[in-house]
Amino acid sequence: MKAPQQTSVSDASLIHLKKIHTDEGNLVVCSEPDGLPFQPRRVYYLYDIPAGESRGGHGHKKLQQLIIAISGSFKIQLKDGIESRTEFLNNPAIGLLLPPGLWREITDFSGGSTCFVLASAEYDPSDYIRTYSEFEAFKLGQNSSTKLVQ
Ligand code: TYD
Repeated sequence: MKAPQQTSVSDASLIHLKKIHTDEGNLVVCSEPDGLPFQPRRVYYLYDIPAGESRGGHGHKKLQQLIIAISGSFKIQLKDGIESRTEFLNNPAIGLLLPPGLWREITDFSGGSTCFVLASAEYDPSDYIRTYSEFEAFKLGQNSSTKLVQ
């Protein structure tokens, strides 16, 4: 896996999860043998997001996450300091896999939407990069004068 300073928005990937469809409905499996590239250590979800609110607005130094719109829809904007990329999630059988070292902002939550997150590690406040300027410094390894795009 790339170092978190080296990851780019193109390293995020949409994963088609294993979906078991029957006449009684659908079941989706998220597990390592079925294509999840890490063992989940934590699950959390966002719901009842007021209209117009955004979530995220941070990066992670080590954490990997798989983000799924298990109901409704939302947008995820990713930045790596050079490029940005926006994905629209609205399918409970598709997850967006985020390596560490990406800035993310989650917006445009539809009413009744739920953002379900599988995380590779326990909650650790010290893994967060909370400001974009800190994120830029992190991506530059702290000591380059190269200007990154906002
Ligand atoms: P945060 O990760 O900033 O939420 P978001 O990225 O969705 O905007 O977390 C919001 C609050 O919840 C913050 O006070 C930390 C707390 N929190 C936990 O206590 N445990 C967790 O596993 C997570 C994800 C957040």
